[in-house]
Amino acid sequence: MKHLIDSTDLTVEEIDDILDLALDIISDKERYSEACKGKKLATLFFEPSTRTRLSFEAAMMELGGNVLGFSSADSSSTAKGESVGDTVRTVGCYADIIAMRHPKEGAPMFGSMVSEVPIINAGDGGHNHPTQTLTDLLTIRREKGRLNDFTIGLCGDLKFGRTVHSLIKALSRYEGIKYVLISPNELKVPEYIITEVFEKNNIEYKEVTTMEEVMGELDIIYMTRVQKERFFNEADYVRLKDTYILDKSKLKLAKDDLSIMHPLPRVNEISTTIDDDPRACYFRQALNGKYVRMALILSLLGVTV
Ligand code: NCD
Repeated sequence: MKHLIDSTDLTVEEIDDILDLALDIISDKERYSEACKGKKLATLFFEPSTRTRLSFEAAMMELGGNVLGFSSADSSSTAKGESVGDTVRTVGCYADIIAMRHPKEGAPMFGSMVSEVPIINAGDGGHNHPTQTLTDLLTIRREKGRLNDFTIGLCGDLKFGRTVHSLIKALSRYEGIKYVLISPNELKVPEYIITEVFEKNNIEYKEVTTMEEVMGELDIIYMTRVQKERFFNEADYVRLKDTYILDKSKLKLAKDDLSIMHPLPRVNEISTTIDDDPRACYFRQALNGKYVRMALILSLLGVTV
């Protein structure tokens, strides 16, 4: 049995297989429509979610399976003081696979240590979000046709943004990628990303504080929301939340084939006036999340079609 806790739990080959499978599902949805008949996915969400939870549930439904779960800690026995371990062991009696989101870093990993069924980390605190990373990789592959040789700008809350940490770790194993880290000084990527990922692997990166100075270099810009819920005080959040707003004027500086990504939800960091620009791929990215989760569920359950 395998769990997915960190975006580097999968080898590059395993990631490529999941992306290939997702592309096959996209090309022939009907063939997969009964693949998980009789199987159940449980979504245990101790933190808010729209895309991740609903795309997991839609994914299992489109595979012919069923779903159960809860969408807030208050509506589960956590509110009575139950431990994550006991919740996971119990839900494993009812479901074949579990997707779990939790505000505490490491909670899904802890769950996986006692679980009888595969556990998928659907986001743990500011740490990791491997299924968003699979979504992002599928999006880059579909938009750019490759997962190597490009310059990616990651912009916004690089300190608390788990999707950023997860994506950088996974992408660091592909060739020829340059990273431009765009953030205020207070929201730079954690030091371990610099030392353990970039420096250790001799990867080219630079840190800047404005979008304008680098816009023309980027093949992809990955915008992120300032993670309000992980701030220690409201005043800092208010001061930093609108540092970057991608709009038409900034796009004038960009390449014609830039891909604009965002894991969503957005707050103000992308103006809605650019939603119809062909370079904006964040809603296509949200759709890719469903297909890649279908592929992941099939892989972890060992179902072949
Ligand atoms: C992200 C998350 O939960 O980390 N959302 C998502 O899963 N698509 C990004 C965010 O909340 O800002």
